Amino acid sequence: MIIIGSDHGGFELKKAVTEYFDREGIEYFDYGVHENVSVDYPDIAFPVAEKVAAGEYEKGMIFCGTGIGVSICANKVDGIRAALCTDHFTAEYCRLHNDANILCIGGRVTGVGVALDIVKTFLSTEFEGGRHERRVAKIMSYGK
Ligand code: RB5
Repeated sequence: MIIIGSDHGGFELKKAVTEYFDREGIEYFDYGVHENVSVDYPDIAFPVAEKVAAGEYEKGMIFCGTGIGVSICANKVDGIRAALCTDHFTAEYCRLHNDANILCIGGRVTGVGVALDIVKTFLSTEFEGGRHERRVAKIMSYGK
């Protein structure tokens, strides 16, 4: 199951993505923000990332204005590989090569059409493994 969250900068994009999930019958938990009010993105990004790291959800999606703030936060959480994606190619390769478990998109950067393609690609692309296992393992063992 997917967990999704945003600040106000990513709120409209989160709404579009959850509407897509509803249409497709894709299960998700919406962590919020539940109305378009100003919130501090770390207050959304850290708990969402922690729930993915704890194994409560298989994948996460976090949106803010640029996608940068939420990706910086998520990547501080042990066990998270968050990818800020801007197009089909980055969405595909963050799964193939990086085994990203959190998708970040900037709601003020990326239009809904491209964002939905990113979301679909992120969810449908499997990790390639092989030589990338070793590289991902090096990331995950850093500082341990
Ligand atoms: C909020 O104004 C904005 O700073 C936030 O959504 C995000 O872009 C931060 O990286």
